[in-house]
Amino acid sequence: MADDILILGIETSCDETAAAVLLNGRRLLSQVISSQTETHAVFGGVVPEIASREHCLRLGPTVQTALAEAGAGFADLSALAVTYGPGLVGSLLVGVSGAKAMAFAAGKPLIAVNHLEAHLYANFLEQPDLEFPLLALLVSGGHTHLVLMPGHLRYRVLGRTRDDAAGEAFDKVARALGLGYPGGPLLEQAAKVGDPAAFAFPRASLEPGSWDFSFSGLKSAVLNVLNRARLKGETLRTADVAASFQQAVVDILAQKTVAALETTGARTLALGGGVAANQALRHRLRAETAALGADFVCPRPLYCTDNGAMVAMCGHQRYLAASFADWRLNAIPGLSLQDFYKESGKM
Ligand code: KG4
Ligand code: ZN
Repeated sequence: MADDILILGIETSCDETAAAVLLNGRRLLSQVISSQTETHAVFGGVVPEIASREHCLRLGPTVQTALAEAGAGFADLSALAVTYGPGLVGSLLVGVSGAKAMAFAAGKPLIAVNHLEAHLYANFLEQPDLEFPLLALLVSGGHTHLVLMPGHLRYRVLGRTRDDAAGEAFDKVARALGLGYPGGPLLEQAAKVGDPAAFAFPRASLEPGSWDFSFSGLKSAVLNVLNRARLKGETLRTADVAASFQQAVVDILAQKTVAALETTGARTLALGGGVAANQALRHRLRAETAALGADFVCPRPLYCTDNGAMVAMCGHQRYLAASFADWRLNAIPGLSLQDFYKESGKM
């Protein structure tokens, strides 16, 4: 139909090559995620140069499959939306260059999407009519942000981690426990049969009035416990260490988030980013939000980790706001959410 808005979303910021087609910001017609996890698993983490090469190989077929499954061609699209930061520079460049080439060849507008805002927009895939102001906890491999959204495409970062991101802490502790890669889901699995009260790991409390987080003290405490046990020749139950660590992360995140919900008066709490797939975190925040009489929304696990649908969803809002990029668009590996709204001049 002539008035339909059809957005192709492209995501290549880390190790997933993903594309999705979204109709009118409500119907996801297709979504393809080509994951490189197995390629990187043998190295115990993402190898940036390999990730870029894999994106080069996978981007074309991924986009073609997403369009084919949606029953659409480039000519049907309203615009192409692509993640341009933050992330690995080589990986981002493949997506940005590819999207620019496709948009230019098809004569379609290009939309630049910040990966962090895309994670927040994953919530709108579940509930397109979420009300503002919205408080969002963004917990990924590289970022831990508490964000107040007064309206669409407007972000006020209330707090952020001062050291490790929550996902980074999960990955480092998982590696020390010998659980493998990717660490977060494997640690969650191990923690299921563990005792969360077995170890009293620290919950860093920063100065009063700060909404920032800190996870490096917790991570170091876990590593110290493991090292001490090794030196003494003791064997610790991996499940107990995992469950106690996870409980500490959930406590740290929940305490600040619930306090921010009360202070800001936001009526809805949203979650985003890979760590949002963690069931212990989801259950805790759902229960605490309900106790305050507020609403809780979180993306299904597939939309928590990197995907093209969240980029298309954010791209839809940018399309409505006529927020288009020009052909000089470049990858910005250190892009932040704050920079983004300053750049857009909309706050
Ligand atoms: O959002 P994401 O896919 O990529 C980034 O933008 O960083 O997040 C990946 C992070 C990794 O650190 C991964 O270990 C973590 O999310 N993660 C989890 C779970 N699933 C993914 N952490 C805890 N529990 C999970 N179930
Ligand atoms: Zn991500």
